[in-house]
Amino acid sequence: MSTTPENMTSAPVVQVDYSELIPNNVELNSDRALRRALERWQPEYIDWWKEMGPDGFQESDVYLRTAVGVDKAGWAKFGYVKMPEYRWGILLAPREEGRTIPFGKHKGEPAWQEVPGEYRAMLRRLVVIQGDTEPASVEQQRFLGKTAPSLYDLRNLFQVNVEEGRHLWAMVYLLQKYFGRDGREEAEELLQRRSGNEDKPRILGAFNEKTPDWLSFFMFTNFTDRDGKMQLESLAQSGFDPLSRTCRFMLMEEAFHMFVGESGVSRTIEQTCIKMNEAGIKDPDDTGAVRALGVIDLPTIQRKANFHMSVTRDLFGAEVSTNAANSFNAGLKGRFQEVKIDDDHQLENDTYKVMRFRDGRFVEEDVPALSAINARLLDDYITDCQGGINRWNKVIEKAGIDFTIRQPHKAFNRRIGEFADANVSPDGEAMDEQTWNSRKEDWLPSGSDLKYLVDLMKPVTEPGKYASWISIPKVGIDKQPGDFEYVRI
Ligand SMILES: [Fe+2]
Ligand SMILES: [Fe+2]
Repeated sequence: MSTTPENMTSAPVVQVDYSELIPNNVELNSDRALRRALERWQPEYIDWWKEMGPDGFQESDVYLRTAVGVDKAGWAKFGYVKMPEYRWGILLAPREEGRTIPFGKHKGEPAWQEVPGEYRAMLRRLVVIQGDTEPASVEQQRFLGKTAPSLYDLRNLFQVNVEEGRHLWAMVYLLQKYFGRDGREEAEELLQRRSGNEDKPRILGAFNEKTPDWLSFFMFTNFTDRDGKMQLESLAQSGFDPLSRTCRFMLMEEAFHMFVGESGVSRTIEQTCIKMNEAGIKDPDDTGAVRALGVIDLPTIQRKANFHMSVTRDLFGAEVSTNAANSFNAGLKGRFQEVKIDDDHQLENDTYKVMRFRDGRFVEEDVPALSAINARLLDDYITDCQGGINRWNKVIEKAGIDFTIRQPHKAFNRRIGEFADANVSPDGEAMDEQTWNSRKEDWLPSGSDLKYLVDLMKPVTEPGKYASWISIPKVGIDKQPGDFEYVRI
């Protein structure tokens, strides 16, 4: 990822024109209507960024990665930039000649370069929902800069934030280019909704939750940005080629967001283990003693993970869903790694095993595969999460501490889908609501856990220094040395 223009080997298919106000590889120059629409939207976007983007730091020089091309080997450059001056651009992965629709009832037909009329509303909805999550996360994270555990982490937060901003640009491009006036109206509304606002909330639940502390941020970027990855992977399969190309490029940026999350939690765990060993504390449940060391006890980390995993699983929507069947059948949204799956990609006669909750018990039912698209994506997501969790557990194991981070049962703490009305423990034990309420603080962060985390967060702004609760990263961003000044405050 740390590639500079000097070591770019092959030129991108379409050169990004940096003399433009809006860096792009979509030949904005020759599309005056679109260019005007975007140039009108851009000042409103900057107003939104200043109002809802990172609080403070707007005048700071931040060492950021900027997307400058779409070639895999050299698509980004690093340098200091003030965030409001970041070059948010519109970059699509190169067009594949002769691409065909890879799934659904139009499988094998040439991919659409324009919106197919019959699917216009469905497609617009998919773009708007994806687009809405991008600014939402920036809003959720806007106060975190004040308590960053280091300049390295502060910079990573801002990197994620500006790239979510660029993802908003990407979706707005699609709306303005392909959906006419209602697309332009949707683009406006993406700047008007606000995370957590009662009157104009963001569309999806997890994007209205607070991100009050840095452990929340790392959990969010690991678990919730990973949902983003799964959604983008599914949209990258789309028969609507501009959406596919847009999402394919976004996935290159998304990988860094999950790195921030996974490594952030890992460093938090590592520091806890180091301090426990130094103090000779063997019992991870000795919360008082562990917290006295200025680190986060492992059971609290497990409870935070339980919370973020369960609210993120709700983002996949109902496991059995007619909407999902329709958008698959129409060729608009595929499955995770659709082209690598060995089946007919039309699923008319296939079934998929879905876990359901019937009369207080879990049963596996064969459901028509088309209706189970969301269930399958959720299963793929749960598998994808496990890799990082295994790496966290390696850190604990290496330190010789007896504790394992686990994914909660699929039905735990759900509000949407099959298990919305079930009360289920992380181990999969179903119970009545009263029992669940009396035990939920064992499984989800309590008020005092959250207060402990917020109180622990003190800003560290000296280059090369880190807060008490997190270990030092193994390598710097763009291979910079340990005391590098990632943000000039
Ligand atoms: Fe994003
Ligand atoms: Fe992201």
